[in-house]
Amino acid sequence: MPDLSINFAGIKAPNPFWLASGPPTNSGYQVMKAFDAGWGGAVWKTLGIPVVNVSSRYGSINYRDTRMAGFNNIELITDRPLADNLREIEEVKKYFPHHAVIASLMVESKAEWEQIIRDVENAGADGIELNFGCPHGMCERGMGSAVGQEPAVLETIVQWVMAAAKVPVITKLTPNISHIVDPGLAAARGGSDAVSLINTIKSIMGIDLNTYAPYPLVDGKGTNGGYCGPAVKPIALEMVKELAQHVEIKHMPISGIGGIENWRDAVEFILLGASSLQVCTAVMHYGFGIVREMKVGLTEFMAQKGYERIDDFVGLALPNVTEWKHLNLNYQVVARIDADKCIGCQLCYVACDDGAHQAIRLLESADSRVPEIIDENCVGCNLCALVCPVEECITMERRDHGVAPVSWDQLAEANKVPTTFDDDLAGGKGHHVPNPTEAFKFRTDDVF
Ligand SMILES: Cc1cc2nc3c(=O)[nH]c(=O)nc-3n(C[C@H](O)[C@H](O)[C@H](O)COP(=O)(O)O)c2cc1C
Ligand code: SF4
Ligand code: SF4
Repeated sequence: MPDLSINFAGIKAPNPFWLASGPPTNSGYQVMKAFDAGWGGAVWKTLGIPVVNVSSRYGSINYRDTRMAGFNNIELITDRPLADNLREIEEVKKYFPHHAVIASLMVESKAEWEQIIRDVENAGADGIELNFGCPHGMCERGMGSAVGQEPAVLETIVQWVMAAAKVPVITKLTPNISHIVDPGLAAARGGSDAVSLINTIKSIMGIDLNTYAPYPLVDGKGTNGGYCGPAVKPIALEMVKELAQHVEIKHMPISGIGGIENWRDAVEFILLGASSLQVCTAVMHYGFGIVREMKVGLTEFMAQKGYERIDDFVGLALPNVTEWKHLNLNYQVVARIDADKCIGCQLCYVACDDGAHQAIRLLESADSRVPEIIDENCVGCNLCALVCPVEECITMERRDHGVAPVSWDQLAEANKVPTTFDDDLAGGKGHHVPNPTEAFKFRTDDVF
């Protein structure tokens, strides 16, 4: 039976599934309920000088049938007094001594950092997370992402914290920066024990077409908020990978955050270098109970692959994430349609003809609506397979028959890459494109 327990930078937990700092960790009641349901740790709702929050404060992208495919908030740190939070942290630790309780902190001055670190350590917190990520409200006051976007300031504060803290320190990074490695390096230079990412992405969810104000609405006005939920997972995965691959950062354990809602998401983060996982939006959407399926799924995955501990597969996908210039330019695939599965919707034809490479034709025959791939035009882009509504109806078949791989880097070394605007070495030279006037074949007098 695989062992899900972890030791993350010295913070022990019965499993890698932690609640991220946010509404689900606002109180002792919620954290106890979560631990009871099976969560291994919780990063407490960020503590600091308590704020006053606005109403309303959440927005959502409801994409077709999926509610909260992307989520956004303009909530600040905790609005509850520090003493109440400290008392509840102490109580949670009494009932759950082996679960991880991490205090997320955000204050301004060195003296405030030193004071609040003493307070949460005295309350029994197992670790500290520095919130350098909040992209709304707090950054207007010089905190949150205002710190995360200034590596020199981040490094100084991490140094203050490391000098004061006795428990492990996790630096939480903002994705609202052009190069995540810069704050990652600053956290490493400051001596942080670990990093976590991502916090939310600065965003506007939409505009009310009657009031012309952005969502969420606050008395006819709005402001940019922080984006999270399933839609941000690809951005989070990329940033986790950047840090996990960096030679001067990879010694710090990474807590992966952003759009995690099932065990598969969790495994992907682990394969790219995360060794603990944090979840906020999915719990706000579905409740604490989702952790049961997450634990069962992760355990089964590990058993199937023969892994005994989480550490056995941290970062195993990293060697396969390379730079574009190292990809094999001779690898070629072509689309194949399974006529037995095809329902004749012809979405693939429309996508390829209008949005790709005119490599699908409709048959003249009245008895079949199954389109046909024109092999010599197909560049193997995948678009038709992505739009096809039937699972496994369009697959990509390899057709290079094992020609020796060659990369852009190798071609460049051999002076075989295009260097002029009309170079014969251009990849698309000789690809079929229809005569422009063929576009008129659909024209009717009604349109023009
Ligand atoms: C309503 C809301 C409030 C949040 N408050 C905090 C906070 O106080 N401190 C913090 O570090 N992150 C906060 N976050 C960010 C989350 O901890 C997390 O980094 C982000 O939501 C991405 O994870 P997710 O996609 O699982 O939600 C908040 C997120 C939401 C949705
Ligand atoms: S999109 Fe898929 S189901 Fe629809 S016509 Fe193309 S192959 Fe058939
Ligand atoms: S893989 Fe791309 S080019 Fe080939 S048929 Fe599909 S959409 Fe067209």
